[in-house]
Amino acid sequence: MEVYDSIRTVLAVREFKNIPVPDDSIRKILEAARLTASSRNGQPWSFIVIQSHDSLVELGSIVRSGPYTAQSAFAIAVAIEKESPYGLSDASRAIQSMVLTAWADGIGSNWAGWVGMNAVADYLGVPDTHDVIAVIPFGYPLKSKTQGIKRRKEFSEIVHSERFGQPFN
Ligand SMILES: Cc1cc2nc3c(=O)[nH]c(=O)nc-3n(C[C@H](O)[C@H](O)[C@H](O)COP(=O)(O)O)c2cc1C
Repeated sequence: MEVYDSIRTVLAVREFKNIPVPDDSIRKILEAARLTASSRNGQPWSFIVIQSHDSLVELGSIVRSGPYTAQSAFAIAVAIEKESPYGLSDASRAIQSMVLTAWADGIGSNWAGWVGMNAVADYLGVPDTHDVIAVIPFGYPLKSKTQGIKRRKEFSEIVHSERFGQPFN
């Protein structure tokens, strides 16, 4: 899939088929994260892969914004070094790399975060030097017919030419 097609069609996937994702695909998704650029090439991130069904179920109960993690084929928790001023932007970019790489191979995912991340860190044994910013559950989407349907602001509402407020034609 072309990069733009992946961006155009990707959706937040919260329902997964009960089938495993091959190890090669999991490794490719992680390589996409590893190869992502970061500010000053600092790479202030760590990626914890969770494949155990019991652990996924447990994470589903801890991550209140992502209970569907329990049904995923695997999940990746993303931790950043607390000391890095760029951790959030760098890791967000790595997450997007993973989401798009997965999608291009037919694997859905979603960012689940914000609440319960300290509990996730405790559960996964993440040291105090790091914050968990997201848990990304992955799996083959249960439904695919909504691909490409986006609810987004209009182009004219968010794109400006030369100065804020001037329309871009
Ligand atoms: C930074 C970020 C954080 C998000 N956090 C959550 C979350 O905690 N739980 C959740 O179910 N979805 C989460 N989402 C998914 C968004 O709600 C979803 O992408 C958005 O509503 C647009 O839907 P679409 O991706 O299907 O077009 C998050 C997405 C992003 C980019």
